[in-house]
This record gives sequence, C-alpha cells and structure tokens, in this order.
Amino acid sequence: MSEKTIKGVILAGGLGTRLMPLTKITNKHLLPVYNRPMIHWPLLTLIEAGITDIMIVTGGSFAGDFLQLLGNGRELGLRDLHYTYQEGEGGIADALSLAEDFVDRDRVVVILGDNIFENSIRPHVEAYRAQRTGAKILLREVPDPQRFGVPELDGDRVVGIEEKPRQPKSSFAVTGVYMYDDYVWEVIHGLEPSARGELEITDVNNAYVRRGDLTWAQVDGWWSDAGTFESLIQAGQLVRERERARG
Ligand code: G1P
Repeated sequence: MSEKTIKGVILAGGLGTRLMPLTKITNKHLLPVYNRPMIHWPLLTLIEAGITDIMIVTGGSFAGDFLQLLGNGRELGLRDLHYTYQEGEGGIADALSLAEDFVDRDRVVVILGDNIFENSIRPHVEAYRAQRTGAKILLREVPDPQRFGVPELDGDRVVGIEEKPRQPKSSFAVTGVYMYDDYVWEVIHGLEPSARGELEITDVNNAYVRRGDLTWAQVDGWWSDAGTFESLIQAGQLVRERERARG
C-alpha cells in the first residue's frame, strides 16, 4: 500500500491581476521570492516530500519562460519535468483537469504555484499514502480567513468549505495543497462554473466532504500565498529568515 505512486501537479497559470503592473511583463510565479523565482518553492516542497513525477500547468503570454527557467528540472535534482498549457481563465479546477492524462489512475498532490510553506509537507503526504481512498487538505489558522477557502468544522470533521466567505465559519484557511485519488476526475467533469465563471477547487473539495471521504491536517510553521503585494513581500521576508537560519 505504501508504494502507491503519487504524482505532483503545480498550478501556475492565472493573470496575477492582484499584482499588476508586476504581472504585465511576466507570470506571477516567476517573480522573485527572496533568492529564487516563486515557482521554485512549491517545486522544492514537492521534491522534498518525495514526489518527482511532476507536471506544471501554466498559461498566458509568458508560458515559454517556465521552460527557459526550469528545463527538465535538473538544477533541482529532477530527471525531467512535464508541462501543459491552460487556455483562458477557467479556474484552479479547470487547470487541474489538464493534468488528467498525466496523472492517469495514480494519486496526485496538487500545489498552487504561489503557496510557500515553512516546513516539510512530507508527513502529510505519507499519511495520505496510508489513507485508503479520498482526499486530504491542509489547513492553517489565519487572521484573515475571508481571503481564502474556509472550512466549517464539527469536532474534527470538515462539514463544508466556503470560498472567500464574508462571515467565515472558522479561523482556518484551506491552503493550496490538495491530495486526491482518481475520483477527482469524475468530480471535475461534473462541475459547473461559479458566479465568477471559474471551476472552483472548493467545489471539488466539497464533493469529497459530501462523500464523507475528506481528511485534513494542520500545517505547522508559517504558510504564505504570494498573490498580493503584502503576501509577496511577507513571503520573501519569511523565506529569507528561514534560509539564513539554515545557513
Ligand atoms: C485559492 C483557493 C482558496 C485557497 C487559496 C490558497 O484562492 O480558491 O480556496 O484558500 O487559493 O492560497 P486564490 O488565491 O486563487 O484566490
């Protein structure tokens, strides 16, 4: 059971409108976060968790720059890297659907390209490996949950997730790491676009909640998405402190 293959998918599309004008001339995930382009951090998070079969989903006008930057990922210790291209702005779940053939019947750890974690996610990936079926999400307590997907908890069970609720039902954010079995493709095929015209990852997670097959864990250490000016600079500072401490 522990030898089940788990593939990795990094979602690095989007227009990065919250970071205009920085994102007028490059993709958000290529902007610097301390001493590396943002995309390196989620890549290193996956690699460190033992995942080396990885696809990057990108889009927009600067997709070619990912290839130029990363090539086959040799600098990061990979043998090769897979890429695909998202046309238009269909949302996170739409971007993930492009990786269906790559993931095939295996399990997948999805990470959003702007999510940076202080600590290893390896223990959570290992716990998911031992989980028989279903999905696993990672939560983190935050001061501003209304910016994120927010779980409603009943004891230690997630009973529903709301995307950017005005009145959050908990102080947790759903971070941008999602672990799925192959039921995810059936869910995505059945999704309808949300009010903002996107296929929402929160709807995917809620499908697993309804099926009673979603587990969660709390990440220790800091977590940052780097999608706004504030979180971008904060992510840079946090990474800087960590890298200096590690020498
Ligand atoms: C996305 C998800 C949200 C999640 C967040 C984590 O939001 O929709 O549920 O909490 O990533 O970074 P976005 O950053 O695309 O607004």
